[in-house]
Amino acid sequence: MLLLLLLLLCLQTSLQQQDSAARCDELQTLTLQTSCTSCAASAAVTCPPGFTKTSTGMGTANCSYVVQVGGREVELAGCHQSCVKSVLQPRCCPQHWGPLCLSCPSWSGKTCNFHGSCLDGDLGNGTCICDDGFSGFACQECKNLNTFGENCDKGDGQCLCQPPYTGRRCDQ
Ligand SMILES: *[C@@H]1O[C@H](CO)[C@@H](O)[C@H](O)[C@H]1NC(C)=O
Ligand SMILES: *[C@@H]1O[C@H](CO)[C@@H](O)[C@H](O)[C@H]1NC(C)=O
Repeated sequence: MLLLLLLLLCLQTSLQQQDSAARCDELQTLTLQTSCTSCAASAAVTCPPGFTKTSTGMGTANCSYVVQVGGREVELAGCHQSCVKSVLQPRCCPQHWGPLCLSCPSWSGKTCNFHGSCLDGDLGNGTCICDDGFSGFACQECKNLNTFGENCDKGDGQCLCQPPYTGRRCDQ
């Protein structure tokens, strides 16, 4: 008989750096307690497959269980065992997204050109959400066509384009 009472998820995580820097799987510890039995019977209670018993002897004497005595329910003090299991949760490293942990868009090696934040993580879609004033897939452009410069804070600039480029922003 093996009834499980509680399943607690302990976020005791440690980062597992993988060979490819895109994956940062996390080691998580699952903790559960077996159901309450009499303390005499508790020592023989085993943990479910894959779990390791962390309590000793009768386990922890701090629970109650119910028995039927002559058609009445009686609550008795009992014991339960603590069990743990380590599981590796797949996770992407920061600035990586999706099931394959692809890299977020970058410009000159800077994620979202350092002018936005990437929707990263396993559930992200790798989109750069650009800061005010910036646009483009990697926030590499000024939103306002009249602004220029690294921080899009310069106005009325005039570009001296190198051939063959032309246009106000030398992008044609
Ligand atoms: C024992 O159980 C009581 C009542 O449920 C709880 O308040 C207490 O924290 C428990 N102690 C331990 C050591 O688990
Ligand atoms: C990415 O996710 C954001 C937020 O959920 C959404 O607004 C955007 O349209 C998505 N982009 C793509 C390309 O799916």
